[in-house]
Amino acid sequence: MKCFCYFKDRSRSRQRRSAPELKTSGTSDTSGAADRLIKSSCSATSPRGIPELYEEKAHNLRVFRFSELRQATNDFSRLLKIGEGGFGSVYKGRIKPEDGRGEPVLVAIKKLNQDGVQGHKQWVAEVQFLGVVDHPNLVKLIGYCADDGERGIQRLLAYEFMPNKSLEDHLFNKTYRPLSWEVRLQILLGAAQGLAYLHEGLEVQVIHRDFKSSNVLLDEEFKAKLSDFGLAREGPTADRTHVSTAVVGTHGYAAPDYIETGHLTTRSDVWSFGVVIYEVLTGRRSVERNRPRSEQKLLDWVKHYPADSKKFIMIMDPRLENQYSAGAASKIAKLADSCLQKNAKERPKMSQVVQSLMEVAQTSSGDRSPIEKSFDSPENCPTAPENEASQGGASESWKRRMAHLAKLGEQVEGSGRRRFLMMQRAKVQ
Ligand SMILES: Nc1ncnc2c1ncn2[C@@H]1O[C@H](COP(=O)(O)OP(=O)(O)OP(=O)(O)O)[C@@H](O)[C@H]1O
Ligand SMILES: [Mg+2]
Repeated sequence: MKCFCYFKDRSRSRQRRSAPELKTSGTSDTSGAADRLIKSSCSATSPRGIPELYEEKAHNLRVFRFSELRQATNDFSRLLKIGEGGFGSVYKGRIKPEDGRGEPVLVAIKKLNQDGVQGHKQWVAEVQFLGVVDHPNLVKLIGYCADDGERGIQRLLAYEFMPNKSLEDHLFNKTYRPLSWEVRLQILLGAAQGLAYLHEGLEVQVIHRDFKSSNVLLDEEFKAKLSDFGLAREGPTADRTHVSTAVVGTHGYAAPDYIETGHLTTRSDVWSFGVVIYEVLTGRRSVERNRPRSEQKLLDWVKHYPADSKKFIMIMDPRLENQYSAGAASKIAKLADSCLQKNAKERPKMSQVVQSLMEVAQTSSGDRSPIEKSFDSPENCPTAPENEASQGGASESWKRRMAHLAKLGEQVEGSGRRRFLMMQRAKVQ
């Protein structure tokens, strides 16, 4: 789904920390010039904002020449195009290691549309934010390219390649295998941890401003990594409640209070997270124009199926084929409802959301859906192996899976790689 970027800049003059200032550059294709271009955007902010942190931390970013990235993508071959968003096209490519030794590595190269000011501004924001942050649930930026040559202004970004595309692809594109319940919970937890880190784990608050399922990328173990920091903003300093900004984001995900007032807080991201929770539960997009009118807006539709009512399970994604815990799903829907409070102050902090998701994982080992209860007699359980049937059929298997997920929740704070391998194995069993 494409972003909307409409101008509603009420109080730029009141703004203390503005987005990186745009500098038009007359630079040629040289790495020093590209680096200066980003650092030159670092002026006019309060002490130790993102630009200052960028100066301090972003030494590992590679500065590419346009020709290198063109070669890496076979001249931006359509065959290597893996996606297209509001800001440009994404290509799969291979780049040589910086020291020239070893095998080329796979990368995703985003080539921004050549729409001048807006594109450049987003490119600068992306480089600055991703140059500063460092978390297992955020996509890694490998490097960037700025080339203002004969071909016009070129702005590119090279990221670590995420082989399992995005959460959006897996939820809504029927050519992908449906995600299991456990993997959905794993992805929600990872995405929540990524947002919690942005909001609460850095010297400055970072508000993503465009959190949505297409910006949750999935690595080889289906671990969630947030992407697209082109619209990210620094949050308010301690003496302020919000920052006032032009309203940007994506229809269907942006918080109504933010759209109405332009007042941005971390709780705007929390709203978007609530929307994505419902997408994960239902397998429906936040807005679907090809459905009957009453079902087009996901949040309006799910209101008719409250989390504590009997009819709640009717909204669950049919692609789950009833392989989920109804109790856990209902708790997660209630969590989504708290994220979707009209009053932004009543929404939980992302660290609380992380906590709640972990608790659901821990306490849901005994919860089973009505369908699962019907599997209590082994003959009703089509998949239960012999030895499981003797121990109580699929319910035991379910308990083991949920206990495993709870363990994942306990361990996830360290966010080690092994844990997710364990999760994958559990899925295969
Ligand atoms: N690092 C990456 N590795 C692998 N695939 C990626 C990577 N980054 C993006 N993609 C793919 O490219 C697609 C388009 O991404 P992009 O961020 O440009 O647009 P979008 O998120 O779909 O929309 P919008 O521009 O509104 O944010 C993604 O959905 C994903 O499938
Ligand atoms: Mg994106």
